[in-house]
Amino acid sequence: MAFTIALVQFKPERKDIKKNIQKIQSLLDGVSADLIVLPELSNSGYLYPSSEALLAYSEPSNSEGNFLTALKEIAAKTKGVIVSGFSEIDHNKLYNSAVAISADGVLANYRKTHLYADEKSLFLPGDSGFHTFTWKNVTIGMMICFDWIFPESARSLALAGAQIIAHPANLVLPYCQDAMVTRSIENKVFTITANRIGAEKLGEQKLTFTGQSQITGPKGEILYRGPKNKSTVHVMSINPEKASDKSMKPKNDLFMDRRPEFYEI
Ligand code: ACM
Repeated sequence: MAFTIALVQFKPERKDIKKNIQKIQSLLDGVSADLIVLPELSNSGYLYPSSEALLAYSEPSNSEGNFLTALKEIAAKTKGVIVSGFSEIDHNKLYNSAVAISADGVLANYRKTHLYADEKSLFLPGDSGFHTFTWKNVTIGMMICFDWIFPESARSLALAGAQIIAHPANLVLPYCQDAMVTRSIENKVFTITANRIGAEKLGEQKLTFTGQSQITGPKGEILYRGPKNKSTVHVMSINPEKASDKSMKPKNDLFMDRRPEFYEI
């Protein structure tokens, strides 16, 4: 079964939702794909001094705001579902979220479980838990950036049936791309890490994002690794069925052989 995926790497601008929409529209012009993955916080950019300052660049997950309305229109053109990180507002509280949105509207919304560093002063910790949605008979899960360092994130999604993990990211540490090889192998899933590029400064703080967005196959194959500091769209066809069979050897199955009664977690 062929399923087309597209990974988008770009530099979201702070305080400029309109420009971010234009960048995404222009990168996806003429692209058609079943699943498109964009970076974390694609509407807002990353560094803000306070949640009050980020409020104006956040929107609800019901697709009534400018950013998600635009994504819905882009999804219609690309004929797929878009997974994008965005700053979400709900009852005046902010979440670092990932939405799955098609031409018909929002299919799923995930709120980042493991907040990184100063994100803790902007967002509430996610309360959605790890869940999956189905699109064109393929089961897809979402996690966001720093969730990668907790193997429980990808494992929870895989146990819930995810064949593909869509992973919007704003990575600053150098380890994730390598770690995603292990996340893919240990769960036998496809992972799509859509990272951002560029740098942001706030006062004394400067963050440089690592690019090198990555698509990894269920045997840990690096199917694509993007450039360090260039906007890019990579489109490829995968067979999600390859992530359905969890056997490793004739007598070993990754899920059936688990011994949760001996795990502390
Ligand atoms: C991160 O979770 N954005 C590093």
